[in-house]
This record gives sequence, C-alpha cells and structure tokens, in this order.
Amino acid sequence: MRFLMFPYAQSLIFYYLSAVDPLASMLSRLWSPAMFCFSIMKKYSTLTLAVAAACSLAACSAPQNHPATNVTLKDAFADDFLVGVAVAQPIIDLNDTAAIGLICQQFNAVSPESVLKPEYIHPSPDTWDFAPGDAYCDFAAQHGMKALGHTLMWHNQTPDFFWLNDDGSVRTDDEMRASLEEYVEKTATHFAGKVYAWDVVNEIVSEEGDYRNDKGWEKYYRGNKDDLVTLAFSTAQRCDPDAELYYNDYNMWRQTKVDGVVRLVKMLQQRGIRIDGVGIQAHWGLNYPDMKDVETTIDRLYDLGVKVMITELDIDMLPFSKEGQMTGRAMYDPALQREEFMRWLNPFPDGLPADVEQQIADRYEEVLRTIYNKRDKISRVTFWGLHDGISWKNDYPIPNRVNYPLLFNRDLSKKKAFDQVVSIAAH
Ligand code: XIL
Repeated sequence: MRFLMFPYAQSLIFYYLSAVDPLASMLSRLWSPAMFCFSIMKKYSTLTLAVAAACSLAACSAPQNHPATNVTLKDAFADDFLVGVAVAQPIIDLNDTAAIGLICQQFNAVSPESVLKPEYIHPSPDTWDFAPGDAYCDFAAQHGMKALGHTLMWHNQTPDFFWLNDDGSVRTDDEMRASLEEYVEKTATHFAGKVYAWDVVNEIVSEEGDYRNDKGWEKYYRGNKDDLVTLAFSTAQRCDPDAELYYNDYNMWRQTKVDGVVRLVKMLQQRGIRIDGVGIQAHWGLNYPDMKDVETTIDRLYDLGVKVMITELDIDMLPFSKEGQMTGRAMYDPALQREEFMRWLNPFPDGLPADVEQQIADRYEEVLRTIYNKRDKISRVTFWGLHDGISWKNDYPIPNRVNYPLLFNRDLSKKKAFDQVVSIAAH
C-alpha cells in the first residue's frame, strides 16, 4: 500500500469496520487497532470483491432492503429542490450494492465526502491522483445524479506543503498564490464537464465575520485574503466556465458569521467575479440552531442574487454538540476516552431509546419544514452521509462514539425521522 494513499486506505478500513462488520468494529476498540484492521481487510477483501463483481450491474435497478412502496426523498421534494447525499468512496470502490441501491432510490445529487479534497488529489508536491475522483464522477454519471465538486480551497484535508517549506518555515505569499492557482487550475480543468458545480472556497470566514486566522491559508497568508479568494474563484471560472461556483460554510445561523459571508459575496460581485451560490453546511443539533436564525440567513443570502443550498445536513444529539458545534483538537484528548467520560459522552452505544428516536424525528421534521417553507429560495438539500454507521459524526468532534445523525439506520432501514420528513411535502 502506497504511503501517499494513507488517508484513502484509512477510510476504506473505517468503512469496513463501521459498516460491514459491527462485531469487528467493537473488537477493534479492544485490540491493537492497526493489526486488527489489517487482518479484517485481508479476511474480507476477497469475499467482498467477489460479491461486488457478481452484483455490480444490479445495484441501481434493484434496491435490496427497501421495497419501492413508499415515497422517496427525491420524489417527495421533486418540485422543490434537489435532494443530495455525501458519498463515502468505499461505497463506490467496493461496489456496496445495498448502499448504492438506496442512494439511487432516494437521491438525485451527490457530494464527494472526501476524494475531491486536496489531500487526496495532490498529497505531495510531486503527486497528483485524480483516479478516486474520476470513479466518483463516473458513478454519478452512470446513475444520472448531479455530481458536486467539494472542495478546492480549504484549511483542512490539505497538505502542509501548500503553506510551509520542508523546514517548517512559512512560504512567501507569492509561492502560496502560485500553489493555489496551480491546484485550482489542474483540478478544475481535469473535472470540467464531470462536476456541475464546485465548492470553491470552504470555511474561510470566522464566527465574528472576518477572515479566520487559525489554520492553513487563513493563518499563513500575510497579504489581502480577498485577493486569495478572488484568485480561487477566478481560476475556477477560467478553467471550468460551465461549472457553478459556490462558497460553503458551517454555523451559518450565526448572523455575525453571515455578515462576513455577505461581505465576501459582495466583494466578489463588485470585482466582477462570478459566484453562483452559498452553501449552508447544517451540521446541527437537537436544540440548535434556532430555526428563526436559519430563516434569516436564507433570506439574507438569497437577497444577494445567488443560489442558497443546505449542503451538509446531519443532526447530532450526543453531549457537547448541544449548544453549538464544538470544534478543535481538544475534543480528541485521550482523557475523554476514559470510561467515566465515555459513559456520559457516548450514552447510546447499543441503540436509541424510543423517546430519543422520537426527539430526532421531531427535530428533523422541524428542520425540513423550515427549509420547505423557504423552498422558493433553496435549490438543494444534501445529507452528509447515507446512514448512521458511516457518518463522520461517530468520530467528530469526539472519536469512538455511536451516533445517530442521519435518516437511515446502520442496517439501511429508515428511521422514524425519514417518515416525518417525507410527509412534510405531502401537506
Ligand atoms: C468531513 C468528512 O465527512 C470526514 O470523513 C473527513 O474525515 C473530514 O471531513 N465540513 C466539510 C466537510 O466541508 O468536507 C467535512 O467532511 C465536514 C465539515
């Protein structure tokens, strides 16, 4: 296995452990994770590939776990907005036919959960790898779904060499601009005609509405960051003139943050740079945000003359996520993995009590009803992952938990939340 493919190999292992074999997932937390992952990979790879090959053509036409009796998400909201899902690449690469069947049945747009990020495409100064991204685009084309590109300029999942020299010193602004332009140029050119839109810049605005200064481009670039954002958008426009170009961010219910995003959009518009839309990520919780704030945000963004999308919806109900999205490496402190903390931080390791399942269903209904009421201003709603077993929320902001943030259970069955969500469009 090539070292450079490490993040990708890691996601394959994660997928195996969390979705294919729950028992293995449990044991891996008790045993040496690395050795155990390897043995599971070896044990199942032949079997999985054989099954995958046998089922490959049947996947989209015959969803296996879901009789097509009920309304689907994409049909329920067909007159209102696209309904998308973030696809974990192992679903495609391992030809997980049950997951593919469900995706095709329920959704009409896809986002790549990771493979179109810089750490996959350009993991080292001399390496470019478009193959996983191409597989994602082929998958979308084969099944007639709109494929988003996510994301060109971001401080996370981007290798340090974009900003730092080998000795740790900070590169010059000219060097950073050249790296950004080269990256956007090569990537947007390669995927032109394959993705219909790009999240060009992701998460560059702080909670207070100015530029962030804590990581990556935002931390190291000394010059005017408006110029850097302009460079990313203008290069994407030059290299893929037909793609729609978006800005995407989280905590967009916070109006000080929206102030900053509104300023960024207007700045681009005043400079004559095209921006077609803004994505509201929507990594939300049971009791936040207040949907009134979300309505205000949708109105404010729509008034700029751009598309507004809900791009990464999931609802986290585990501790520490309740009053707002907690971020940062502090949540990875090993002390939090101790039993006394985990008992509190990971309260539902064996499944959800009915009353909590109902709380999630009611919250999803509230969220989708708000969006539905604003449907004239919303062009797409994308869920960040297919089912609870492979949601990033099992490991973020705190690793090794059992979370329930999506509309489908680990066995791909529908949650109560699903029924309450599709019923909104019928009323
Ligand atoms: C997440 C993925 O879901 C994880 O698998 C990955 O390890 C980290 O990134 N905002 C974004 C997404 O724009 O790209 C992030 O996706 C979630 C937060």
